Amino acid sequence: MENIWIDCDPGIDDAVMLATAAAHRDVLHIWGISTVAGNQSSDLVTENALRLASLLKMDDVPVARGAREPLIRTKTDASHVHGENGIGNCVIPPAKHSESDKNAIELMRDAIMGLPEGETMTLVPTAPLTNIALLFKVFPEVKRRIGRIVLMGGSASAGNATPFAEFNIFADPDAAQIVFAEHEIPVVMCGLDVTRQCILRKEKINEIAGKGSAAQRAMAEMLQYYATSSSYAPLNCVLMHDSCTIGYLLHPEFFSGRQVTVHVVRQGENMGQTVCTPGGNVLLLDHANVEAFEQMVIEDICNKSF
Ligand code: RIB
Ligand code: CA
Repeated sequence: MENIWIDCDPGIDDAVMLATAAAHRDVLHIWGISTVAGNQSSDLVTENALRLASLLKMDDVPVARGAREPLIRTKTDASHVHGENGIGNCVIPPAKHSESDKNAIELMRDAIMGLPEGETMTLVPTAPLTNIALLFKVFPEVKRRIGRIVLMGGSASAGNATPFAEFNIFADPDAAQIVFAEHEIPVVMCGLDVTRQCILRKEKINEIAGKGSAAQRAMAEMLQYYATSSSYAPLNCVLMHDSCTIGYLLHPEFFSGRQVTVHVVRQGENMGQTVCTPGGNVLLLDHANVEAFEQMVIEDICNKSF
C-alpha cells in the first residue's frame, strides 16, 4: 500500500482523477482529500470534493478545505473550461459527510506525522500548490516524512494558461517556487509535456455514458461538458491531466522522463513558467504510453464498483 494525500480543485479532470484513485484503494491508502481554490472558488471545489467522495464511495476519507486564494497574486479560475459549478454544471447528490473542522494544512500535518514509524506519505497535488507551500512553511517537520510528491503542473514546453505557463503554476507561482525549492524531496512532475499525451478520445465518453451507475453517468456528463469547452471543442479527445498522477503511481512503466531542477518565474510576462535545467530532484515526465493510459482511465471508470 502507498500512503497518499490528494490535494485538488475539482474540476472535471480532478473528478476523473478521484475516480481513478477510488478504483485502486487496494493499493492506495488515501489518508485525505484537501481542496484549494483553483479551477473554481474554495466553496465550489470543496463542495464538489465532498460530493465526489460520496459518489465514489469514499465517505471514510476526510475532506478538508485549504487555501481560499493564492499566497500573493490575485485569484484566477478556469470556469471557462470546468463550468460555473466547477464540474461541468453536473449536479451530483449531496455528500453524506461534512468537511473536516480542521484546516487542510493541520489535517495533512496530523496524517503525515501520525503515520507508523518508517512509513512516508506521497503528496498528490493536482491544483495550485498553495496548500503544499503553506504546509512546508507552517509545519516544516513534515518534510522528513514525505516520500515523494507526484504533482500535476508545469511545462518544460508551451503553457496552457499563457504561452509560457501551465494553469496550476500560473495560479500561484510563489507557492510553486516554494515547493520546487525543496530539493531534498523527490518530485514527479506530470506537466503538460506528458499530460498532452494523456488523452481520452471523445468516442470513449459515450462508452462510459452507457454504463449503469450514478458515478459513471456523472463522469460521462462531466466529460461531455469538458469535450465541448473552448479548449477541446475542435479536438477529437480531451486531456486527463490530473489522472496522470495516479496513473504514474499505479503504472510507472507507462511513463518516462528526465531528471531536472525546476525554477518558477514569479513575475513578468512569463510568470508561472517552470524553467527546467538538467539534473536534480524532479523527474519531468515527457512520454506516456497513450493507449495503455487511456485504457486504464476507461477501465477505472467503467469496471469498478462505484
Ligand atoms: O493545466 C491543467 C490543470 O489545471 C489541471 O489540474 C486542471 O484541473 C486545472 O486545474
Ligand atoms: Ca486540477
